[in-house]
Amino acid sequence: MSIHDLFVFCGGFGNVTRLLFTDEQLILALSNPQAEPNHPLFIQSQNVGGECQWVFARTDDMTSSQAMAISQCLAERQKKDANTMSNPVASVFRPAWHVSPPQGLLNDPNGFIYHNGQYHLFYQWYPYGCEHKDKHWVQLTSDNLIDWQWQSVALTPSAWFDSHGVFSGHAVSDGDTLYAYYTGNTRVGAERVRQTTQCVAVSKQGGAFEKLGPVIHELPEGVTEHIRDPKVIEYAGRWWMILGAQTTELKGRLAVYHSSDRLNWQFSGLFGEELGELGYMWECPDLFELNGQQFAMFCPQGIDSPNACHSVEHHNGIAKLTLQSEPFNLTLRDFQTLDHGFDFYAPQTMQTPDGRRVLCAWMGLPDDVDHPSVDEGWLHQLTCLRELEYREGRIYQRPVRELDALLCEQRTLSLNESLCDLGTQSFVLRMMLKWGQTLNLFEGDGYRVQLKACSQTRCLVLDRTNTLNRSADTIRQLPLACQEIEISAFVDTSSLELFINQGEYVMTSRVFASPMSTCVSLLGGQEVAEVHTVEPSMPPFSG
Ligand code: FRU
Repeated sequence: MSIHDLFVFCGGFGNVTRLLFTDEQLILALSNPQAEPNHPLFIQSQNVGGECQWVFARTDDMTSSQAMAISQCLAERQKKDANTMSNPVASVFRPAWHVSPPQGLLNDPNGFIYHNGQYHLFYQWYPYGCEHKDKHWVQLTSDNLIDWQWQSVALTPSAWFDSHGVFSGHAVSDGDTLYAYYTGNTRVGAERVRQTTQCVAVSKQGGAFEKLGPVIHELPEGVTEHIRDPKVIEYAGRWWMILGAQTTELKGRLAVYHSSDRLNWQFSGLFGEELGELGYMWECPDLFELNGQQFAMFCPQGIDSPNACHSVEHHNGIAKLTLQSEPFNLTLRDFQTLDHGFDFYAPQTMQTPDGRRVLCAWMGLPDDVDHPSVDEGWLHQLTCLRELEYREGRIYQRPVRELDALLCEQRTLSLNESLCDLGTQSFVLRMMLKWGQTLNLFEGDGYRVQLKACSQTRCLVLDRTNTLNRSADTIRQLPLACQEIEISAFVDTSSLELFINQGEYVMTSRVFASPMSTCVSLLGGQEVAEVHTVEPSMPPFSG
């Protein structure tokens, strides 16, 4: 009996929504289950999180190429369905120039790359609700890093190796072929046992992605099913795949594979032990060089929070990296936080043709959060694109210079405790803040976000208590040793990215206030601020 026969028996594409395929079983999820069938291969019907699955015994003639053919047809249907969700819902919180999802939930940026004369940026998307489920990849392209065009729903959870999520990963450009490396996530059986593979899909000459399937099927020794988010680099004449991983002792580490052809991979080992206890899992690694120094960026989960106000387990950071070939070794040192705000995770970078290293991250956290935009049907956005620099031992981030094209004429304001109405929530404000002063942003209609330079603690305190914020954390603190604090605040409707001291420190935050909260003020003195309003960029939606 072929998979196709069973597929038709279950109602075909009109009824089968998911296909899972193990050594012993073929499992089909049905949208409209009938009475249990009388079929010689039928084992049982199971309810998995509200989804009805029929489980059949797998026979020798059920091949993976049959499953792949059905997956391709499922993918077509899933793309069509997801595309119906690609028109933006009306929203008062919609950013003017950041990437947000039309509907549903956005999380990590993926496959960020310059390829074939264009920038490509993908993101994790669940189109049908504001929850983490069955992730798709949306593909956007841009000529200028500012205006993003919706291309397609590039990858959907259509295959038995990624049926519960085409998880995060990076892209590799090879001539006019684009390879997307990602983690296939499946949940098998009533217990939803997680199964993880590392997969590749290929797009030739700008065409649709074709899944080649898993290139790593098995878990390496000493690692749990939590191993994901492949980054593929070329180094010392070979290809290397770096993954975020959890050891069986529940420690976060980097897992590394090597390959000569990017398709057949051998395990090289687990790395990062020299950082000691740094959480129970590392996610979303990226490796790159800045000004002659190599770095590894990744997201440790479960490290100690810097203070009691910080209750989110997911952290971000960057460490200096030394790579060595023959024998291969990867060592890390000097781990530091990259962004000190509330909402920054899963960053990844790409290199522009003129050699700049540009970062994009998910402006979201924690995983289960109920922001006011959920009431409108969408959740989370990406950060602005940031150029990374390394000089005199320090890492700096600043919004890409392409953004200047959206800035309107500069206004100089004299800020004091009177409310100054900017008439917009899309602006850039630059000023020097003195210890003891407080800058109020998103002020008006009863709301405000406060940036307090606390002279007692010498901490810069970002306080979003007086907003529509519904997540537990409302305060972030950043200890600073400087005499005065140079602030560049990039405000975009429901987000705030604070670049401090030329971008040596950054604090990123979603901010939900009233559309009338368009004022700024300063407590504790009078200071000059330079303000530009920001024009909207091309919205990254279809249609
Ligand atoms: C990080 C992450 C990744 C995973 C993806 C799934 O936010 O958990 O590790 O691949 O999200 O959407």
